[in-house]
Amino acid sequence: MSIQVATQKKVSAQVTLSLLTQLSTLVGQAFAAHDLDPAFGKVVISQRRELGQFQCNGALAAAKQAGKNPRDIATVIVGELEKTGLFAELSLAGPGFINIRLQDDFLIGHLNELSADPGFGCQHGHQAQKIIVDYGGPNVAKAMHVGHLRATIIGESLRRLRVFLGDTVISDVHFGDWGLPMGLLIKEIELGQPDLVYFDVEYTGPYPDDGPVTVEELQILYPAASARSKEDPVFAESARAATFDLQNGRAGYRALWQHMRDISVGETKTDFDLLGAHFTDWKGEADTNDHMPLMLARLKEEGYSEISEGAVVVHVAEGTDKKKMPPLILQKSDGAVMYGTTDLATIEMRAHESDPDCILYVVDARQSLHFEQVFRAARKCNSIKPECQLEHIGFGTVNGKDGKPLKTRDGGVVRLRALIEDAIAEARKVITEAGISDRFAADELEDIATKVGISAIKYADLSNQRMSNYIFDLERFTKFEGRTGPYQMYAAVRIKSMLRKAADQGLTSGPLVATHDAERNLMLAIAALPEAVIAATEKNAPNILCEHVYALTQEFNAFYHDCHVLGEKDESIRASRLKLCEITLRQIELVLEILGIDVPERM
Ligand code: ARG
Repeated sequence: MSIQVATQKKVSAQVTLSLLTQLSTLVGQAFAAHDLDPAFGKVVISQRRELGQFQCNGALAAAKQAGKNPRDIATVIVGELEKTGLFAELSLAGPGFINIRLQDDFLIGHLNELSADPGFGCQHGHQAQKIIVDYGGPNVAKAMHVGHLRATIIGESLRRLRVFLGDTVISDVHFGDWGLPMGLLIKEIELGQPDLVYFDVEYTGPYPDDGPVTVEELQILYPAASARSKEDPVFAESARAATFDLQNGRAGYRALWQHMRDISVGETKTDFDLLGAHFTDWKGEADTNDHMPLMLARLKEEGYSEISEGAVVVHVAEGTDKKKMPPLILQKSDGAVMYGTTDLATIEMRAHESDPDCILYVVDARQSLHFEQVFRAARKCNSIKPECQLEHIGFGTVNGKDGKPLKTRDGGVVRLRALIEDAIAEARKVITEAGISDRFAADELEDIATKVGISAIKYADLSNQRMSNYIFDLERFTKFEGRTGPYQMYAAVRIKSMLRKAADQGLTSGPLVATHDAERNLMLAIAALPEAVIAATEKNAPNILCEHVYALTQEFNAFYHDCHVLGEKDESIRASRLKLCEITLRQIELVLEILGIDVPERM
């Protein structure tokens, strides 16, 4: 028996299948030709470059199953693979590992296909979904803080990843704009300005165009109101009543609320713009207000909700639970609805309006119990079709150098804007110290500093495993070396500048050839993108893309160190290397774009 010889043509017919998939298929066919499970043919990138580019360890397991000697099986497989003519080197190591090195034609043919596709073959085989990403999650009157940083950065990169894959993506900021904080603010404003028309029950409008408070004032009023409610039970009670009235449509409160919401949205938009976050929907908890009574009535009628200690709840505990699972409280005894109620109602509205296949909630891991309760309630109450995936994409905290959640010097909440401004200032400092600042006009320099600063925070955030905490250390984040945003960005800028030089000298790119291992290694790094994209999507893990782009820039640097490009005398080699630079640049920029990192033209 012998496997079909997969000619170069045959392989290219499987347009844009990833290199590892193609290799695993080929080696799998070799196993199958000897009546062994093709799954044993799984090929992985070699951990030891000097031995081969790839390896297959399947002979060991195959031998165990067939009761044979692993080296014998590996020898037979190698013999089979040699017939294909696709491999430059096939060798046996240890108890039966197969080391693989590709023919240059095979590698180059693959790279040509991959680079002909704007998406580098990553969209291939992806089943497009309709997906809602719920992230950002700012609150009215409370400035965005460090906690919203991760929700925004991770959420935005997952949104971009899904758009890149061809999914239909709805991105919803889910504003925290309902509930007790609103009542507290209304009452606090009333204390300071009791004569405003908003508080006059008799008054029926119109309400003034300009609201009575600025966003800065709101941010002072909210902590004041919150503190007052803890000391003054009468005030606390009045705020609860105001919340209830607001939710039941009291006109003056609604008008005041609208004003507070509008200025808060305006304020958060500035932060989101700086971070490059794009929302298709600016909805919030309050948008559920009309649906809420309908939902509560249905859940009661269909027997999903019950009264427990005066509150309306949905029991969500299951027999298999290892830890206590409290019921989801929909309505307290005073009639107030809760965070969970708005989230459940939001699910019902999303199901009705968009019928999504998946909803991702990019929210602090400390809210995991909340989401578990809400998701269980949604399943139990048939709030959404069972196939729709509901997933909490949690993340760890941003810590200070003391290892505790980041605080200001006096123990306060760190504002998001302050963090961004600090990062840009640090970037400005680093750029000035690097002595490049006098080469640019002031506005270009500012643009570079902004991009460096933002890339520093983003890459630092995204390159960590989502669930781990990390230490906010701007000095480390803004370094132009290693696993940092500025370093990845700089690699791209350097290639851009080299390609500009080439153009100035009238040099053009041409067909790929391989003459040096550094070129082959760079090609292999480029070819690894599809696997990185699949893994990042499956695990909702942008850190996998950070790792990919880092490996790519590392390979590029090694190539640039070992191989002349502009200075290469041989015209066809030079043209090929220019082409390789172009492809590398395009891929670095693509991945950075998914991560939400903008690359300047020069720096
Ligand atoms: N506003 C919330 C907070 O600041 C986050 C909202 C997250 N999204 C949601 N659907 N609950 O904690």
